[in-house]
Amino acid sequence: MCGIVGYTGTEAALPVVATGLKNLEYRGYDSAGVALLDDTLDVYKSEGDIDALTLPDTHSATTGLGHTRWSTHGQPTDANAHPHTDCTGEIAVVHNGIIDNYEELKAELVAAGHEFTSETDTEVVPHLLEAHYDGTNLRAAVQAVVERLTGSFALGVTAVGAAELVVTRQDSPLVLGRGETANFVASDVTAFLEYTRDVIFLEDGDIATVTADEITIWQGDDRVTREAQTVDWEADAAEKAGYEHYMLKEIHEQPQALRQTISGRVDVVNGTADLEFDLPTNYLQSLDEIQIVAAGTSYHAGLYARRLLEAHADVRCTVEVASEYEFTGGRDPWRTLVVAVTQSGETADTLSAMRTAAAAGARTLAVTNTVGSTAAREADDVVYIRAGPEIGVAATKTFAAQVTTLALLTVAIGRERNALGGDRASTLLENIRSLPGAIQQVLDDADRVADTARELADSEAFFFVGRRLGMPVSLEGALKLKEISYTHAEGFGGGELKHGSLALVTADTPVIAILTDGANPEKMVHNVKEVQSRDAPVLGVSSLDDAESVLDVTFPVPSLGDLEPLVANVYLQLFAYHIADALDRNIDKPRNLAKSVTVE
Ligand code: F6R
Repeated sequence: MCGIVGYTGTEAALPVVATGLKNLEYRGYDSAGVALLDDTLDVYKSEGDIDALTLPDTHSATTGLGHTRWSTHGQPTDANAHPHTDCTGEIAVVHNGIIDNYEELKAELVAAGHEFTSETDTEVVPHLLEAHYDGTNLRAAVQAVVERLTGSFALGVTAVGAAELVVTRQDSPLVLGRGETANFVASDVTAFLEYTRDVIFLEDGDIATVTADEITIWQGDDRVTREAQTVDWEADAAEKAGYEHYMLKEIHEQPQALRQTISGRVDVVNGTADLEFDLPTNYLQSLDEIQIVAAGTSYHAGLYARRLLEAHADVRCTVEVASEYEFTGGRDPWRTLVVAVTQSGETADTLSAMRTAAAAGARTLAVTNTVGSTAAREADDVVYIRAGPEIGVAATKTFAAQVTTLALLTVAIGRERNALGGDRASTLLENIRSLPGAIQQVLDDADRVADTARELADSEAFFFVGRRLGMPVSLEGALKLKEISYTHAEGFGGGELKHGSLALVTADTPVIAILTDGANPEKMVHNVKEVQSRDAPVLGVSSLDDAESVLDVTFPVPSLGDLEPLVANVYLQLFAYHIADALDRNIDKPRNLAKSVTVE
């Protein structure tokens, strides 16, 4: 995710803001910038490393804002880096999150004569502020602007004449730090931890005005009090928001990540999904086939999507491990859409498959997390999964965001092909919109998963079984467990285990079964009995009412139709994590593995 840091006090702001940016580096970013407020406003920003940012050696400003950007709208360029300013250059804004309605706001502002210099959604904010700011009351201007915004945002604002920072949040974290002769703002406490541990976490809708000696918080026209807390984390723990590992933090970030994935893309009433791509209706209607190419976890996301596309978009779909891909599009290659699913956008096998498809004449679409990545640049079209940076080597939140994006793609394509009626589309979209809440319910049950995982950590091997949409999740559960715990694990279609591998099942090989909607739970019950009669303990992730009567340990999955297996997967992530933790493995950097595999 992007990072925000701000300082206002009696000392020079520049060194504090620069240190804050360095402290935020761990979150991942592709550009950075600083705004310094004196009698005038000076802005410095550029694409690339913080070290590449040209800052003055000294600056007299005692108020400043800094930002690290992870692109969602517009490439990582100097112009798209934050802070963004209005036409006068006297108002500066930094922003985390996504402003859903920026296109209509931008059209309105352009018509009113405002000149935009970036492709970002953020830039509408300084221009809107310009229309509302009277040169003194910045809070009132921010209040008026926020009322016009939809989406998720944490905003930091400063302006000539205001001598303060004004910050506000909606579905995106923001924290204030209280110092002796200065106050701080940030997207997370790491940014200012060496200056103060006395913090106030803002709530949605709060607008705070921050000066050197005072913090005032408002909800609309009412002043509100938020309790201050003392943070006792060390810097390392703070980077992980108090979690022991990035992987665990990223597992817990999934509700927030998916809110970003979904933001502005779902119209439940009309049953439509808008993924901001350019695939023409007549092209989608004439498609013979979609071929998904991907590796590892992204391949599992592709397997999940295949079932959705075939069921809801009435299109034949194949999924191939990218390193094994050969184009098989027949005589009309342009009737084949090749979808490359890749978190990093840099996986050599996936890029190679994409190039093979393009050379054969197929149209390519990249589904990626990384704006400006090779896959995003080379594909004919691109859709971003918007999960924010993932630091742990094992993919967790990006798998959830990939499947969610591909589910939205299914709705978009299904509607264009007239294969998916409005009512069914609305139900699917309603389920997609409910994903963050359903995943939060699973996360609230995390302690029970940890207890079970610790009890079973020394088992000889683990088998994961699931049918239909549960099948890719069983493969993903096994991959997650083996890559971070180094314990043997295998995933199967529920019916396949008995065709050979059942010979390995004993009392020392726990079986994890997926018994949810979309995963043929009735048939899975038979597979559960098969392994139970070989003495294997069976843990189940299940939405069945009577699951406890079948399973040895049950983890309940909320009702969510075809997305239940995706929610169930969060239990499997937690299970893998806690087994690896019990075995004291190097969870964020497992041996022999890299986050991005750039060789074939
Ligand atoms: C497993 C994992 C890998 C990646 C694979 C593809 O946890 O992260 O299996 O999924 O290397 O990477 P991307 O999605 O970047 O193409």
